[in-house]
Amino acid sequence: MTPLPCRVFWKVTPYGKTCYGRNGSSVSRLLLAAVWVFFLPRAEGSEAAQLAEVYSKLEEIEADKAPARASVILAGLGFTPKMQQQPTREFSGGWRMRLALARALFARPDLLLLDEPTNMLDVRAILWLENYLQSWPSTILVVSHDRNFLNAIATDIIHLHSQRLDGYRGDFETFIKSKQERLLNQQREYEAQQQYRQHIQVFIDRFRYNANRASQVQSKLKMLEKLPELKPVDKESEVVMKFPDGFEKFSPPILQLDEVDFYYDPKHVIFSRLSVSADLESRICVVGENGAGKSTMLKLLMGDLTPVRGIRHAHRNLKIGYFSQHHVEQLDLNVSAVELLARKFPGRPEEEYRHQLGRYGISGELAMRPVASLSGGQKSRVAFAQMTMPCPNFYILDEPTNHLDMETIEALGHALNNFRGGVILVSHDERFIRLVCQELWVCEKGSVTRVEGGFDQYRALLQEQFRREGFL
Ligand SMILES: Nc1ncnc2c1ncn2[C@@H]1O[C@H](COP(=O)(O)OP(=O)(O)O)[C@@H](O)[C@H]1O
Ligand SMILES: [Mg+2]
Repeated sequence: MTPLPCRVFWKVTPYGKTCYGRNGSSVSRLLLAAVWVFFLPRAEGSEAAQLAEVYSKLEEIEADKAPARASVILAGLGFTPKMQQQPTREFSGGWRMRLALARALFARPDLLLLDEPTNMLDVRAILWLENYLQSWPSTILVVSHDRNFLNAIATDIIHLHSQRLDGYRGDFETFIKSKQERLLNQQREYEAQQQYRQHIQVFIDRFRYNANRASQVQSKLKMLEKLPELKPVDKESEVVMKFPDGFEKFSPPILQLDEVDFYYDPKHVIFSRLSVSADLESRICVVGENGAGKSTMLKLLMGDLTPVRGIRHAHRNLKIGYFSQHHVEQLDLNVSAVELLARKFPGRPEEEYRHQLGRYGISGELAMRPVASLSGGQKSRVAFAQMTMPCPNFYILDEPTNHLDMETIEALGHALNNFRGGVILVSHDERFIRLVCQELWVCEKGSVTRVEGGFDQYRALLQEQFRREGFL
């Protein structure tokens, strides 16, 4: 008989569901370190007894309903009926990650650990997962930087900072409020105590050498010693991002695809008669399922891919800054961030590279380390520093928030809002989309359509689709 399913014991804190911390504070490692896996001992006894146990186990896990349950999960995560029959080896990396997630959901563990689950999903799958987890019967511990997702599923937040864990009840917005209050109180108490200490110290200093007051001075000194040691609030450095925009404006048309057909393989057409356009005022956000063609459209707009039919028109003054979906894989990992910029934009003083990196929070020793040793978020910042160095007037960003922590996502949103040029981006982070986007494009079935009602309308469309197709 094979070993029975794993039992997972969890030993982080008794708090509950969500872990949250800055990039580089290694929440992932915390998760891993917190799990001990034990196999149950094999069943003992006669074959009949073993068989009875197997049957009872099958009943317990509702084996007869398993295929239906599996297909609801797979469909929710975006696997079409045809894909559900495909061998797993035929799936690309992104889809395999989804399979792993599906497997974890299907197993219904006592403790479900999710490390940035929304990174590999599209808006539709995220929305489905939010809904699915609403009725999850046991504990979930999730690390995520997707603020909307956290608000939808978290009942408790664990904040990892300065080598410690602080627990908060409630969702993410409540956490933010309670944290601010907690810090404000901590700072007030600290300042009040400082004042009190000073007051006593003045007395001590004044009468230190006065024999008549010696016993009073002694008792005041004792009082000081007995005061609890309070600490001031450690200020987390604020993340600020700014995209340079001291360029001359020019008038439309700026960037267009006109009646474009495109395929990599003629048997699988990605776009037919695609027409889209953007200008320097554009704040466009593109959503759509995995594999719908979002990255392909961005590359067509960039001019990296050439249409099979139709034309791309780009203004001659257009200078595009491109952030690819796989920027981390494309950075040279063996050199330092300073050297990386020096190779890309040679012949400038080292000071200039350092200054540029510093603007994105890569300063001091961080800038001199091999890029390989930086966290995902830090690598993204190096990529931002590289992208903005030539001062583009138009940004095309493919899933830029994937490795960023919330403060940086927020900072990126504000930087894009303040930027004077045009922006087209692909994202599945609802909050980020709402922050930046003024136009929502949905990429599906070989074309791109503009959703006039923005994200709310898109959400409603998806909910309606889930209901119709019985995914929930
Ligand atoms: N270089 C390529 N060669 C062949 N097929 C590709 C290539 N890049 C993407 N595809 C295929 O084109 C389709 C659209 O991909 P992509 O634009 O990356 O989608 P999205 O960004 O929306 O997830 C997918 O079916 C993908 O497998
Ligand atoms: Mg893509």
